[in-house]
Amino acid sequence: MDDKKVALITGCSSGIGLSTSVALARSGCTTYATMRDLSKSKLLQSILEKEKLPISIIQLDVIEDKSVTRAIKDIIEKSGRIDILVNNAGFGITGAFEDLTVDEIKQQFETNFFGLIRVTQGVLPYMRSQHSGVIVNISSGLGRFGVATNSAYASSKFAVEGLTESMSPELKQFGIRTVLIEPGIIRTKFIQSSKLARKSKDITSPYRKYMENMEKGMKKLIECGQAPEYVADIILSAIQDNNPKLRYLAGQDVEQILEAKEKLSDEDFHNMLKKMSS
Ligand SMILES: NC(=O)c1ccc[n+]([C@@H]2O[C@H](COP(=O)([O-])OP(=O)(O)OC[C@H]3O[C@@H](n4cnc5c(N)ncnc54)[C@H](OP(=O)(O)O)[C@@H]3O)[C@@H](O)[C@H]2O)c1
Repeated sequence: MDDKKVALITGCSSGIGLSTSVALARSGCTTYATMRDLSKSKLLQSILEKEKLPISIIQLDVIEDKSVTRAIKDIIEKSGRIDILVNNAGFGITGAFEDLTVDEIKQQFETNFFGLIRVTQGVLPYMRSQHSGVIVNISSGLGRFGVATNSAYASSKFAVEGLTESMSPELKQFGIRTVLIEPGIIRTKFIQSSKLARKSKDITSPYRKYMENMEKGMKKLIECGQAPEYVADIILSAIQDNNPKLRYLAGQDVEQILEAKEKLSDEDFHNMLKKMSS
């Protein structure tokens, strides 16, 4: 890749964000790997030192206005531009819909949706004045289909899909491209970091048995997941694609599920998902 490209990635303490920052730096980008808690930077720090990669690690919490503004200002002062933004930071809240409070759902949207908006709106004026840029939004297969006990997470990713589809034609005139990456199940610390709705932990929850079965099914599924480097490679190819598309699937699982969704009725599709997770 052109070695003048400057990339900003959110959520680089682990998983897809960490792998993407390494992949972009290896391809020659000046890479700003951001994370909300710098004490989690040791693994990335050791990789960048070993390979002498052009990575700077800076603090950025997507839910804090000041942190976002400061990080972008810092990058512009040091590099003068931002060519690639990868909105990766995210987490999941699980729980049956009735067990979720409005506050818990707001918390989910605050990171996965408003966090992405906060960083993108901070970066856009620079990309617009450069008349170039690529914004990569990490969605999910669950941005295309909902599954039981994931209503908060799936709706936050559906929101990311709608937002990205709508901003894409607005930004084209300024030479800015938007991309959606839709990973399937990826072996990261995503499941360990997932939060369970407070009411779902209660033994009196009418959904407790259902939740337990879903959790067992999810643990089985995550073991078959792809490595985060696989998604990082797809992100890199999407950025460099000569035949640019809006959406890129990342995983055979998500490819197969979406193929089935196109062919099946909603009822048959959900029966299929139920069988897969039991
Ligand atoms: N793993 C999957 O199966 C899968 C599938 C589809 C989509 N995705 C999406 O892929 C993205 C990356 O997830 P992952 O699988 O790599 O999981 P991960 O290893 O848990 O990484 C998530 C990253 O997001 C960061 N983060 C969370 N809240 C943040 C905040 N407020 N500000 C800044 N960073 C924050 C985490 O930081 P901390 O270390 O500080 O928590 C971590 O660096 C997410 O958007 C997720 O929804 C994952």
